[in-house]
Amino acid sequence: MSGYDDGRNLDWEGDDWGDDAPPGPGQVVFSGPAHEGPIDLTTKYLGTWLRSPVVASSSPLTGDLPSLRALDAAGVGAVVLPSLFEEQVDHESAELARMSTTQLELNPEAPSGYTPRLDGYNSGAVRYLSFVREAKAAVDMPVIASLNGVTRGGWTRYTEMLVDAGADAIELNIYRVAANMEEAGRKVETETLELVEAVASVATVPIAVKLSPYFTAFASFARQLVDAGAAGLVLFNRFYQPDISLETLSVGPRLSLSTSDELRLPLRWCAILHGRLDVSIAATTGVHTDVDVAKVLLAGANVAMTTSALLKHGPDHARTMNEGLTAWMGDKGYGSVEEMIGAVSQRSVADPAAFERANYLETITRYASTFLQ
Ligand SMILES: Cc1cc2nc3c(=O)[nH]c(=O)nc-3n(C[C@H](O)[C@H](O)[C@H](O)COP(=O)(O)O)c2cc1C
Repeated sequence: MSGYDDGRNLDWEGDDWGDDAPPGPGQVVFSGPAHEGPIDLTTKYLGTWLRSPVVASSSPLTGDLPSLRALDAAGVGAVVLPSLFEEQVDHESAELARMSTTQLELNPEAPSGYTPRLDGYNSGAVRYLSFVREAKAAVDMPVIASLNGVTRGGWTRYTEMLVDAGADAIELNIYRVAANMEEAGRKVETETLELVEAVASVATVPIAVKLSPYFTAFASFARQLVDAGAAGLVLFNRFYQPDISLETLSVGPRLSLSTSDELRLPLRWCAILHGRLDVSIAATTGVHTDVDVAKVLLAGANVAMTTSALLKHGPDHARTMNEGLTAWMGDKGYGSVEEMIGAVSQRSVADPAAFERANYLETITRYASTFLQ
């Protein structure tokens, strides 16, 4: 686009959203006076009241105690711990089986059911369980444990152990690339639903499901997840796409942090699902600022999860988001987060089609006219 560096704004953002512009369909009109008195940031997520809608999503930042304490001091509503990965669990199971066989071979007298001594053995899964305990003791807010996998495997066993360790809820991170040509979408969905059902059936705490946006007929699938026992939907996981090195001609993962521009995918789906399912909704991907938090709440999320912004600016950024949100709410006449949630959801706006296909052609036509001016 370097040939067009003539001052034209190629990032068309719709009509002027300034104060003087007439409200368009789907735009909220703030006519009320500024709110006086305390602003209530509390929000209900997975059946529990949180002090703030800003939640630290799963990342290395939530994986050590000093950072967790800093997030607590900065006022986040809850934290999601880094995921325990299926591969870690599989590794542990294989390791246990190997040790068990070795011990049995070494000790033919061993009675059946003999358990090998595991002194010094500390797998990822075992460490994870003790970290859940430590995290619970370290902070004064809900701690959500996270499981990352795609098969039913040992999840039910680990779910019970995570609950025993003190997890207030469990987030199931379904991270799967459906690359098998023989596997149709229905099979992928059925397996996911069975996984959720299996975990929800043993959990005595709420289960949230963190999803990729690559499911077909997403609204229907969301409903089926709720029927399977999901108490929360976390929209959406951010895939780390592989990249090719032109130097080494090799493929490797490339992790780049998100920007606020990525907010619009979760924003759309929070808005479409809000009020239509008996489920908590968390928006994740692209929540960087107080403005982003306000947008996803207005769309219909109960909480705004953030990782990239916290990794970039540090845990105290959560305080800045809380303060900015409080100031914005006061200016716009909102006294509580509860009043905000879903105020601009698909069910609330004058032009519900704006969240679907309807203004597709108009958007492109308007962009073209800006581009060709
Ligand atoms: C370094 C890093 C590690 C992450 N680890 C996990 C993880 O273990 N489990 C998980 O569910 N999400 C994980 N995520 C995804 C984040 O929780 C979040 O959903 C994603 O980064 C999008 O949010 P953001 O735009 O605020 O960064 C990780 C993200 C980053 C950047």
